[in-house]
Amino acid sequence: MAVLPPDLRSALDAELGKYPQTRLTQSVERLSSRYRDNSPATAPILSSEVDIAAYAGYRMPATYAAVHAVLAEAALRAPGFAPRTQIDVGGGTGAAIWAAADVWPSLEESTVVEQVPGAIALGRRLAGNAGGKAVRGSNWQRGLIDTAAPAPDADLVTLSYVLGELPEARRADVVRWLSAKAGMLVLIEPGTPGGYERIVEARDQLVGLGLSLVAPCPHEGDCPIPRGKDWCHFSARLPRNGLHRRLKSATLDFEDEKFSYVVASRTAPERAAGRILRHPVKRKGMVSLTLCAESGLTESIVTKRHGTAYRAARDVEWGDAWPGQSPRI
Ligand SMILES: C[S@@+](CC[C@H](N)C(=O)[O-])C[C@H]1O[C@@H](n2cnc3c(N)ncnc32)[C@H](O)[C@@H]1O
Repeated sequence: MAVLPPDLRSALDAELGKYPQTRLTQSVERLSSRYRDNSPATAPILSSEVDIAAYAGYRMPATYAAVHAVLAEAALRAPGFAPRTQIDVGGGTGAAIWAAADVWPSLEESTVVEQVPGAIALGRRLAGNAGGKAVRGSNWQRGLIDTAAPAPDADLVTLSYVLGELPEARRADVVRWLSAKAGMLVLIEPGTPGGYERIVEARDQLVGLGLSLVAPCPHEGDCPIPRGKDWCHFSARLPRNGLHRRLKSATLDFEDEKFSYVVASRTAPERAAGRILRHPVKRKGMVSLTLCAESGLTESIVTKRHGTAYRAARDVEWGDAWPGQSPRI
């Protein structure tokens, strides 16, 4: 379960406390339906102070959880990677710099580029409460994504939940621009068919540009997911506190954030042999895994007689790497 760092949680609660709950709930309803619509934005979606606070209240915990899950996996696949600098493009209120600082304490300089001044103002206030110096001292730049400007030059470049807001015709140029100087590039989208399509296109483009895939893909061949019928996505569970629950008129005290992603790097990673694409089915004495591997999509049944592999399979989750040799069925 990806829990917001306490310094972020308390700063966020203080910000949300500035608005009546009914105003926040109205904004949440409006924003949820706009984001479900999933079409490129012709004007900034976050347009008022209360919208921005509502976004931070109901979406930031979820995007934080997704980014954190992705970066934690990237850290496993690239154990020697210790980024010092990060640029988060379309950073909103800064979820990705908080997540990165938690995964990589090596970070010293974090920069957020964002078009909406109110998101920058709120993100900066939240960051001011951070215990760690990368977030507390973060730079916030107001700006539009501009592929004619110098490319983001940082050890880690992140673009989380932004590609879908860009016009389709611009996406390939933006991906090329983002990848030009990044040590590691992380792209995250909602775990929907449309989000996956944008990610798989970027993935193929990044391979063509000569970058190495770090995660989730275990190979650089064609993605074996049948396009139009299925989509590669993962899930991060996060707690909902009281206000978060009330903003979403929800009863459960957790939610599952679905996301698609790709991480690519200039240096070769320790790529996983396989990636678990569904919740493993765990029964007495056996675990069934749906895997993406170099050979394509496979179902692997791991039973007690596989010993160590079986014990490992009992502990794995959807989205994990499946490191061992797939046991013969
Ligand atoms: C759905 S929010 C995601 C925010 C943040 N990255 C996160 O994961 O929580 C999309 C953000 O991208 C920003 N954005 C969209 N298009 C942009 C552009 N052309 N230039 C700069 N920022 C942009 C929006 O203003 C918004 O803050």
